[in-house]
Amino acid sequence: MLDKFNDNFKEVRTIGVLTSGGDAPGMNAAIRAVVRTAIARGMEVRGIRRGYHGLLQEDIIELGSKDVSDIIQHGGTVLMTARCKTMMTAEGQQKAAAICKKYGIDALVVIGGDGSFAGALQLSKLGIKVICIPGTIDLDIGCTDYTIGFDTAVNTAMEAIDKIRDTSTSHERVSVIEVMGRSAGHIALWSGIANGAETILLPEDGKEVDIDDLVDQIYHTRKRSKKRNFIIVVAEGVGNSAELAAKIEELTGIESRATILGHMQRGGSPTATDRVHASAMGYYAIELLEQGTFNRVIAFKDGNYVDYDIEEALAMTKTIDPFKVKVAKTVSKK
Ligand code: F6P
Repeated sequence: MLDKFNDNFKEVRTIGVLTSGGDAPGMNAAIRAVVRTAIARGMEVRGIRRGYHGLLQEDIIELGSKDVSDIIQHGGTVLMTARCKTMMTAEGQQKAAAICKKYGIDALVVIGGDGSFAGALQLSKLGIKVICIPGTIDLDIGCTDYTIGFDTAVNTAMEAIDKIRDTSTSHERVSVIEVMGRSAGHIALWSGIANGAETILLPEDGKEVDIDDLVDQIYHTRKRSKKRNFIIVVAEGVGNSAELAAKIEELTGIESRATILGHMQRGGSPTATDRVHASAMGYYAIELLEQGTFNRVIAFKDGNYVDYDIEEALAMTKTIDPFKVKVAKTVSKK
């Protein structure tokens, strides 16, 4: 165990923490854990508001233990967040590194998705020590089996889809429900299984929606299985869900409605899973810094918290879980 008087400890006296990109439920739990663990290890903490955008604006505040009281249960991020195009430029990156140095920030903890990690990588090349924590509802970070916010988002989608099924059944409609995920289908696959969706459409299928096949499935369910509803969960990366619903109605004569769940999936009180993983990852980030390990992405892999070199982590890709795809396809058949 490292102690207060060795060189590594002295290397990181002050840390900065920011959240970047789309917010995700559980980010507050991660901020809280970073702040409290750092303070427990004798470090000072600066909160950077509004992600890299705020860093470039020098929107930097001191954070103490009490500042992160009563936040673990709240969605969103108390540090606020932003998407920052300037951080994609060499000029922006150099300015951000210079600001970290100006404020005596020895190391920066970045909570966000892979776009945020790409910014962190550039900062690391400019001499800023960084640790990245995966925070995105999309679960689309290659190196990790878990990202902060995914569990809450799936549960939020699941509850919403249960409600839509009620009204869909009363009206004997087809419901096309679009969930978030950018170009990944993880939220769609999980909520589709959890809701017993008749069909799940994923961008990973890599082909146009087979409308004839879909119409066959709807007829089959209606006539042979006597089912009064038909739920189609569509990942946003698949295409226009309103157009799909209109096409289904035109071809089948069955009333069809599209619902885009949208940003409700990004809000709400985080689940216990998100709170616990986010707390563990925040703690782990400071452990790494204390041990003199920098420029890493924290991951949850095969049941353990681990860390990867940022470049290595960014090069990893994630495919949709083929086993769960088989589960979904099999158990939705009537
Ligand atoms: O990355 C999280 C996410 O919610 C995606 O699922 C979605 O495509 C995107 O962000 C929406 O971004 P914005 O809130 O900027 O519209």
